[in-house]
Amino acid sequence: MIKIAVLVSGSGSNLQALIDANLSGQIVGVISNKPEAYALERATQAGIATAVIEHKHYPNREAFDDVMHQQLLDWDVDLVVLAGFMRILSPKFVSAWQGKMVNIHPSLLPHYKGMHTHQRVLNTGDRLHGCTVHYVTAELDAGQALTQAVLQVAINDTVESLAQRVHVLEHIIYPQAVEWICNGTFQYTQNGVLYRGQTMREPIQFCKI
Ligand code: GRF
Repeated sequence: MIKIAVLVSGSGSNLQALIDANLSGQIVGVISNKPEAYALERATQAGIATAVIEHKHYPNREAFDDVMHQQLLDWDVDLVVLAGFMRILSPKFVSAWQGKMVNIHPSLLPHYKGMHTHQRVLNTGDRLHGCTVHYVTAELDAGQALTQAVLQVAINDTVESLAQRVHVLEHIIYPQAVEWICNGTFQYTQNGVLYRGQTMREPIQFCKI
């Protein structure tokens, strides 16, 4: 069984969706860089081990990442799931977990990498928006996209309404993508990601509302 660690910084609604999904993998631990993150409460309620590793206690990014790395090794983790983890990871850490670490991003990657995606979608006047689950590589929000969910931007949408609507989609596609990693539907290889044994070109889009 695949052992999963979830990295969080905040509310942890995606963590909750993963917990509720009864994955064929096991969430063995949750790491937060913020002691006040509500996600820690969710993990404890579910009987999952937690670790608080506060980045501000470390002299630099690498030192912080080394402690996280050691915790992941202690838990014997196979897959790292970033769920609202608000720290940029060092190249050394990313390279150590290459092919074993995924993230969810609130945009239709490759569009709108980085922050403030909902505002940027509204500013541009895009008709479609959504979220993407992707492997994490050294380049921000640029690893192979696995799954995407799309919504139509309404005329009266605001940053808040888009954030809320995208969140609903995140809670559908993130557990699905993680399950597909756990059960081998997605396989990371040196030559690219396979979906049901075939090299992926486009993310799987299985939800459009
Ligand atoms: C989500 O919007 C996710 O796309 C982004 O951070 C947010 C996490 O929300 N990476 P939550 O903590 O899972 O509720």
